[in-house]
Amino acid sequence: MKKDSKLLWTEVDEYFTGLLAPGDAELNAAVKTNRQARLPEIDVSPLQGKFLHVLVRITQAKRVLEIGTLGGYSTICMARALPKGGRIVTLEFEPRHAEIARANLRRAKMLARVDIRIGPALQTLPVLHSSGEGPFDFIFIDADKENNPQYLEWAVKLSRPGTVILVDNVARHGAVIESKSTEPDIVGTRRMMKQMAKNPRLSATALQTVGVKGLDGFAIAVVENASER
Ligand code: SAH
Ligand code: DHB
Ligand code: MG
Repeated sequence: MKKDSKLLWTEVDEYFTGLLAPGDAELNAAVKTNRQARLPEIDVSPLQGKFLHVLVRITQAKRVLEIGTLGGYSTICMARALPKGGRIVTLEFEPRHAEIARANLRRAKMLARVDIRIGPALQTLPVLHSSGEGPFDFIFIDADKENNPQYLEWAVKLSRPGTVILVDNVARHGAVIESKSTEPDIVGTRRMMKQMAKNPRLSATALQTVGVKGLDGFAIAVVENASER
């Protein structure tokens, strides 16, 4: 390869972004707001956001669950893909993040489709379950990685056969292969991956991604009908 590979994949990402996810007033304003508020720059990339959008369309999801809202960039991308009457429930621990997300969603005219629940997701998920707010058609897991095993368990409980579960950041610049790691996010992600692999109700795969966020990846699973497997 002529160029440093990281530079090359970044340029390729920028090329695809320019074509397929060039941004618009509302998404650009959300990014600007998030940067000015000094939120961590860990939103999905524009192309990844478009990937979420396309997945919500493919699955024809009407009910979406997101774990980890931040400033609502990914939420806007998914909300725009919903059919009439579609809803997203998005879980966020930090009230300040939720407030910024609310402003971004309002500006994007998506707030009416989105229900932001503030609090630790591990407290909100059982409430969603016991109050019968599931099943969800599409579930995006993108919060604190150390709790990924519990998030996957709740996602399955809140699903129906055919539900698609997508988990962000499963490669973490390659750190996911460090089997002796004691980093909570690596331990959590590795445990979640094993559960995903072993759960007979899930058919799953994982794809590495390169781009403006470096090397990372998504795991994706579809919930199977218990009696068919
Ligand atoms: N999905 C967003 C990025 C989410 S970043 C996007 O792509 O635009 C992860 C978010 O999860 C942060 O806002 C963080 O505050 C939140 N978070 C961390 N721990 C959490 C917990 N225990 N429960 C709920 N949210 C949590
Ligand atoms: C981190 C979290 C994310 O959700 C992400 O997409 C990238 C990085 C992080 O905690 O470092
Ligand atoms: Mg993420």
